[in-house]
Amino acid sequence: MTTIERRMIQLARRFSNFPTYPLADVPQIKRDLIAQGVDVIDLGAGDADLAPPPAAVAALRDAAGQPHMSRYPFQLGLPAFREAVSTWMRKRFNVQLDPYRQVLPLVGSKEGIAHIAFAYAGPGDVTILPDPGYLPYLGGTLLAGGEPHAVPLRPETDFLIPFEDVPPAVARRTRIVYLNYPNNPTTAIAPLSYLADAVDFCRRNGAILVYDNAYSEIAFDGYRPPSIFEVDGAMDVAVEFHSFSKTYNMTGWRIGWAAGGADAIAALSRVKSFVDTGQFLPVQAAAAAALGAYDDWVPGNVRAFRDRRDALVAALCESGIEAIAPAATMYLWVPVPAGASEPFARRALMEQGVVIMPGAALGAGGEGFFRCALTQPPDRLREAARRLAQLV
Ligand SMILES: Cc1ncc(COP(=O)(O)O)c(C=O)c1O
Repeated sequence: MTTIERRMIQLARRFSNFPTYPLADVPQIKRDLIAQGVDVIDLGAGDADLAPPPAAVAALRDAAGQPHMSRYPFQLGLPAFREAVSTWMRKRFNVQLDPYRQVLPLVGSKEGIAHIAFAYAGPGDVTILPDPGYLPYLGGTLLAGGEPHAVPLRPETDFLIPFEDVPPAVARRTRIVYLNYPNNPTTAIAPLSYLADAVDFCRRNGAILVYDNAYSEIAFDGYRPPSIFEVDGAMDVAVEFHSFSKTYNMTGWRIGWAAGGADAIAALSRVKSFVDTGQFLPVQAAAAAALGAYDDWVPGNVRAFRDRRDALVAALCESGIEAIAPAATMYLWVPVPAGASEPFARRALMEQGVVIMPGAALGAGGEGFFRCALTQPPDRLREAARRLAQLV
């Protein structure tokens, strides 16, 4: 008998730098707790319990019955979707976009945010990203073989990345800057003058500005978050990402878009053409209908988030946990009242049945804070605050 040599199969080296995705083990723990009879309140993921717009549901139903809508979307997608995006961007931000050259449908904004690194960053290239921050900035960079330069977002600098502090040797090698305001998780907002500094930094260093505007429509008390394209010259350097997940409670539908200069949009489209074949056309039809229903439907949804924000801030403060009402997003970013964020979140889940996001799970710069998502009705949020107070 001959023996056949078997070599070990190994994971790629870049994979070993990957952190565990936040909350990855929570669904299983939640199921176990619920099976034990625990009343779990989940404020972990930014995945609201609210309904999507009826107009989107009706459009999906209608389109799903049409045979031609079952065909491959490719990167072109549904022309009516591109047109609806372009119309909405003009009305909302006064930004003019060619729907066929400056807009790209995405299978949720996350995939576009992660994939764009393949077009612009490789070995030897640096990407500047916020810490804490949405993990696809890091994931996209590492998958593309780039080198992340994480900048802590701290209260002392209003949770902004201070571009003047980026070392020149890093700036010279920077190919992508990721920014996200209104910010997840810190809830910070950025003045237009700061966004102009970011555009200037990217111009001087030959970097693309990936501007993640997923929370542009969840803002309160009269605040209207800007588009990066409201900054002069931004179209030369920036790609802006939008999502239906938060504005329209359509997290599971997986639909968003990228907008930007024709070259950048063509580059992202080219990457994607090797990875996906576009989002299901009826979902694109539904998203176009959601944009059409914006004026009638979105303000009421924002009011629901505002009422939740106010209920949770008041309840936390009454419980002795310091919390500030954010101007935007569907989160609160709260200083941890006792110990480090990860053990605090673990205790919140195991002792009180409340799921929260420990700041450190979104990057070392998030230590000292935890995030609550406003994904439950006011009464449940008050109950969560009462339970969290038991941990202090
Ligand atoms: C900052 C930020 N960007 C983008 C997204 C992605 O949204 P989606 O991929 O569902 O469009 C999220 C979702 O949590 C987010 O928090």
